[in-house]
Amino acid sequence: MTEVASVLFGREDIRRRVQELGRTITGDYVGREPVLVTVLRGGAMFLADLMRAIDLSLEPHFMAISRYDGAGESMGRVGIVLDLDVDLSGRHVLLVEDIVDTGFTSRYLLSMLRARGAASLEICTLLDRSARRIVPVTPRYIGFDLPDRFVVGYGLDFQERYRNLPDILQVDDLAALSQDPDVLLPLLAGAA
Ligand code: IMP
Ligand code: MG
Repeated sequence: MTEVASVLFGREDIRRRVQELGRTITGDYVGREPVLVTVLRGGAMFLADLMRAIDLSLEPHFMAISRYDGAGESMGRVGIVLDLDVDLSGRHVLLVEDIVDTGFTSRYLLSMLRARGAASLEICTLLDRSARRIVPVTPRYIGFDLPDRFVVGYGLDFQERYRNLPDILQVDDLAALSQDPDVLLPLLAGAA
């Protein structure tokens, strides 16, 4: 193993929590055929597991956004790279996200989805790092609360690596990972 990162939520913890979320959402959305809107690429793995844990008729839809982390004027600016091709008017929309961090992304997505006439709109996020919130956003469904640590795996990346790790790892030495983004690649061998 390596001291750069360690398992925070293992695959079995994730599986159990996603099943619980699915049951709760099933109860809350009975009779409503929700539209699950997922943000690529980080949310794809969560969506795939979550939708199978919801025992209702539902529609999964996808979008992709760009996000500029730069300081100053562009701080938190978000743009659409791939748009939805579904009419949301009158639909019950559940925004499925990998992680809500500062809240800039969620705020943008919520206002965009609201403007398209959704009958209801809630967020389901796998991870909630509320300690870093800048914009007030309150997800209705939360998988896990997250300490102020960078995480990778189960959809979450560092420079597009590690999305396919089956567990969620917290990065204990971000300086080492920044210096060598491939340093955790050995974890992929035998991860399954
Ligand atoms: P927000 O706009 O600051 O809430 O950022 C949300 C987005 O930032 C997520 O959808 C992720 O793509 C990315 N992100 C935030 N924290 C992490 C992390 O710890 N690991 C990987 N990606 C992250
Ligand atoms: Mg990312």
